[in-house]
Amino acid sequence: MSLRLGDQAPNFSASTTEGDIDFHTWKADSWAVLFSHPADYTPVCTTELGRTAALKSGFADRGAKVIALSVDPLEDHHGWAPDIAEATGTAVNFPIIADPDKTVSELYDMIHPGEGDTSTVRSVFVIDPANKIRLILIYPKSTGRNFDEILRVIDSLQLTDNHQVATPVDWTKGDRVIASPAMSTDDVMDRFDNVEVVKPYLRYVDDPAG
Ligand code: BEZ
Repeated sequence: MSLRLGDQAPNFSASTTEGDIDFHTWKADSWAVLFSHPADYTPVCTTELGRTAALKSGFADRGAKVIALSVDPLEDHHGWAPDIAEATGTAVNFPIIADPDKTVSELYDMIHPGEGDTSTVRSVFVIDPANKIRLILIYPKSTGRNFDEILRVIDSLQLTDNHQVATPVDWTKGDRVIASPAMSTDDVMDRFDNVEVVKPYLRYVDDPAG
């Protein structure tokens, strides 16, 4: 199934390292990051899961729950977890879905046969409190992801959901933002602080949440 931004995140039942879940019930009204990795006991995946565990408070601060997935069985997830703690210094502190029958992987189109085998590629779905898909990233198996980028996008989504702004290239929380192109420059001047009009369509303003 091919999913697009704005689609409802499909629900599923799954076995995880923290017990069986119904995804929507587990997620409830939080933000969620659902991400796949190719295989347990592999080097890049070990670094990714350790880094995600280290960022737990960053996800929690944003009201986001994290859940990983691979097609490996639960026993492998449990057997691998101590290696992640030893190798990265952080124990896994989020559930890992075991998807050996590929139900969830296929539902979220995480298996790309051209990428070598029938394991999952490195997919990331950021899902909002209303279960709408807000970000999809797909990375090749050989490239570890930047999980700070996922936090950065959640920051942008949470800001732009609540204010008539967009975030420019390389923006991070606290930086100046761009007023919505739908607003007239007079409105921008009235509603935001410290307006810089670079072009009629490019108006930098102070972060209204800052
Ligand atoms: C890894 O996690 O290191 C990895 C897994 C599958 C393919 C390539 C790298």
